[in-house]
Amino acid sequence: MQVLIINGSPRKNGVTAAVLHRIEENLRGAGIEVLFYNLEEMKMSHCTGCNYCYRIGHCCMEDDAELLSKRIEEADGIVLGSPTYASNVSGLMKDFIDRGHFVMEQLLHKKYCIAVASGENYGSQDTLKVLKNLVLFSGGRLSGQLRIQAGFNDLEGMMRKRKSQIDQVAQSFIRAMKLKQCYPIQSIIHFFIFHLGIKPFVKKKGTLYQGIRGKWSKLGIT
Ligand SMILES: Cc1cc2nc3c(=O)[nH]c(=O)nc-3n(C[C@H](O)[C@H](O)[C@H](O)COP(=O)(O)O)c2cc1C
Repeated sequence: MQVLIINGSPRKNGVTAAVLHRIEENLRGAGIEVLFYNLEEMKMSHCTGCNYCYRIGHCCMEDDAELLSKRIEEADGIVLGSPTYASNVSGLMKDFIDRGHFVMEQLLHKKYCIAVASGENYGSQDTLKVLKNLVLFSGGRLSGQLRIQAGFNDLEGMMRKRKSQIDQVAQSFIRAMKLKQCYPIQSIIHFFIFHLGIKPFVKKKGTLYQGIRGKWSKLGIT
């Protein structure tokens, strides 16, 4: 079993990283292989909006965003973490969301996910919503979420207050992956989003979106 943890903060030792590393410890303790990525350390350009990925099935830029997207395809679980920047995800995380071609491709199809948003004052609920919607719209199974309100660099205080909650979320994520837990309400919401929104749209685009249809058939999505 393999889990990818993606830190969308430019700070490798910040609040988001501390939460994600605590989740990592839980996962490793359960014998799960973990790949931890700091987006800050990766070579990743902005999306240029060329639509090549929809037509061909992968990005035209062979950088680390594409590599991460391939790693996600192979993983059983994904943990996405971002600090709040102006009531949204960080620029790094936004670039990765754009470059990862998540939603159309259904990149998170049946993958177990945790969304983590940190913030200092107001707006982290919006950050969390962006990450949760990304999971749901991309076919993932949201097994846990954490909204961490913490003073800038107050790692000790944050850990003291939130450690047991972080551990609980990590442990139920592990259980969900092991038992292949289903989430009926999420499945119903995703059914409508996919069958009434995404699928008719992709069909209408014809050969311009043939890369997407290729990805779906590999995943067994009809
Ligand atoms: C450019 C910038 C914008 C920010 N905007 C917000 C915000 O809108 N709301 C908020 O609660 N915190 C905001 N913060 C604070 C960070 O989200 C918060 O300190 C976060 O926990 C930092 O995470 P990190 O230590 O993982 O980098 C902002 C910080 C920066 C640098």
